[in-house]
Amino acid sequence: MKRLLFIGDVVGKAGCEFLAEKLSGIKHDNNIDITIVNGENSAQGNGITHASADMLIRAGADIITTGNHAFRRKEAMDIFEEEYMVRPANYPEGGCVGSGYRILDMGAYSVAVINLMGTALMEPLDNPFTKIDEILEDIDTPNIFVDFHAEATSEKKAMGHYLTSRVSGVFGTHTHVQTADECILGGHTAYITDVGMVGPEHSCLGVEVEPVINMFRFRMPVRFLEASGKCIICGTITQFDEKSGKSHKMERIFIR
Ligand code: FE2
Repeated sequence: MKRLLFIGDVVGKAGCEFLAEKLSGIKHDNNIDITIVNGENSAQGNGITHASADMLIRAGADIITTGNHAFRRKEAMDIFEEEYMVRPANYPEGGCVGSGYRILDMGAYSVAVINLMGTALMEPLDNPFTKIDEILEDIDTPNIFVDFHAEATSEKKAMGHYLTSRVSGVFGTHTHVQTADECILGGHTAYITDVGMVGPEHSCLGVEVEPVINMFRFRMPVRFLEASGKCIICGTITQFDEKSGKSHKMERIFIR
């Protein structure tokens, strides 16, 4: 049995710093073998930069997944050439840097990490359901984990059921609020609709509350500012059999 830690969207400097402070302890206390972190909001002011990715890797991430803010920082596009970076696999072919999945060589076994983006209430990327079918044909490890970065809970649930018994885990990200529906689908596939986030708790999804309230009150464009204050860490720990790829248990973590 192996244990995989998935950490939800890390927001800004405060999120990176809090994760850097806590991650090695979380990994040690929970006997973690592999750590995946969603880092698409880890840079100050959104996106991911070399500095924020370095911080996540030094903190203990093995793989960094992303989403709709993957390419927000033009100066950091080359970061997607790094073996530890994954971007949504369903960007249209031909014009996108980086890779939509990575295979982690763990010695006696390997783990595939795939990143996909939803298309309901999001950018119209290629269909994630048909894209994952193509990708799964190319992967020959049974240990496959998917970060499904999506807005609509229905689309995430549908993806979980679609991938039941075909992958070891489906982790919803993007909405930053941890859901309480973790389960093992079909006795094989760990699933949660949203893992949650790492960042200031008194915030709207990690950003300052006032501008967001004003945006909803006055319908005028506002500048989002990174929130400050005490942070939370949301994640999940999935226990899986590395020979069969079957997940046996998923538990949520929520640290204040
Ligand atoms: Fe996102």
